[in-house]
Amino acid sequence: MTIPFDFADRLKIPLIAAPMFLVSNPKMTIAACRAGVIGSYPAHSTRTREIFAQWLLETEAALAAAENAGEKPAPYAVNLVVHPSNARMEGDLELVIKHKVPIVLTSKGAPDDVFKMIHDYGGVAFHDVASARHAEKAVEAGADALIAVAGGAGGHCGTINPFALVSEIKRVTDKPIILAGGLTNGQDLLAAEAMGAAMAYMGTRFIATEESLAPREYCDALIAGKATDIFLSAALDGAPANWYAPSLVKAGIDLDELAVTRPGKIVTSDGQSKQRYKGIWSAGHGIGATTEVVPVRALCEQLIGEYQSARRGLLQQLD
Ligand SMILES: Cc1cc2nc3c(=O)[nH]c(=O)nc-3n(C[C@H](O)[C@H](O)[C@H](O)COP(=O)(O)O)c2cc1C
Repeated sequence: MTIPFDFADRLKIPLIAAPMFLVSNPKMTIAACRAGVIGSYPAHSTRTREIFAQWLLETEAALAAAENAGEKPAPYAVNLVVHPSNARMEGDLELVIKHKVPIVLTSKGAPDDVFKMIHDYGGVAFHDVASARHAEKAVEAGADALIAVAGGAGGHCGTINPFALVSEIKRVTDKPIILAGGLTNGQDLLAAEAMGAAMAYMGTRFIATEESLAPREYCDALIAGKATDIFLSAALDGAPANWYAPSLVKAGIDLDELAVTRPGKIVTSDGQSKQRYKGIWSAGHGIGATTEVVPVRALCEQLIGEYQSARRGLLQQLD
């Protein structure tokens, strides 16, 4: 594990439990950090700036209490959409600065003034990219690491194969890479390191956890699902994203129509955009790894055990 940040000795494995809209929350984040994995949530998952402030206070208080009790929790992270289209960006950024959020996971845009503000209070910014061009722009603007969102990721995803994406990014920068997309176990984490990534993201693997905001029906869909159930489409909200196909069908969305719709044109079941996400679930190609709803700590401990045994196995193989 070679993580080029001063929090490296607080991590048990090189992993970030990825931010997920309407899924991640402070409870998941705190449990992950206390287990030695970076936990995170998106600022935009909160309905108001006041609720975001409460989430930050709850996270800080719990991690400070853990520290006082002799634990060494991992730092937490917040996802911020740093683009003028995010009406809350300014207020949310103010809170991030006020609370000195240790790691900011930025998406869209990549404005250099935002990265500078994060650096000024001692934070680091990891920016979400789906191509080498995005990576170049983010590095120019001052990002500290690049989250390489490959094909197969849950939520808004990239479309490029992870090997090709990591290789292309490495050709344009030597900044640390955090690989995202379809990783579900400790062996995958070790494989990401072998590819040259410093860390990895897991999103889908953390949805069916006791602390998550995902309703039971969503968790059951993940338990039942396989990679072949995942449907890639940009026609639900304009950006490529992976969806659990049976939930699209159940919501009355025509998969044939979706398949032939050009990016930018939106398909809905009833023409009402506010109904668009009701009962429609997102997940990545790693969906098949979910077999039950577990506490975040148990999941992290399982991943740590798998990672250690994968390392031992590989070292023996290489001897
Ligand atoms: C339900 C869901 C919601 C997501 N919401 C966000 C989000 O709000 N912000 C963000 O940066 N990424 C979001 N993502 C993407 C994840 O942060 C991460 O890139 C992805 O889950 C990694 O791929 P995996 O699911 O295959 O592990 C979301 C993913 C899922 C599954």
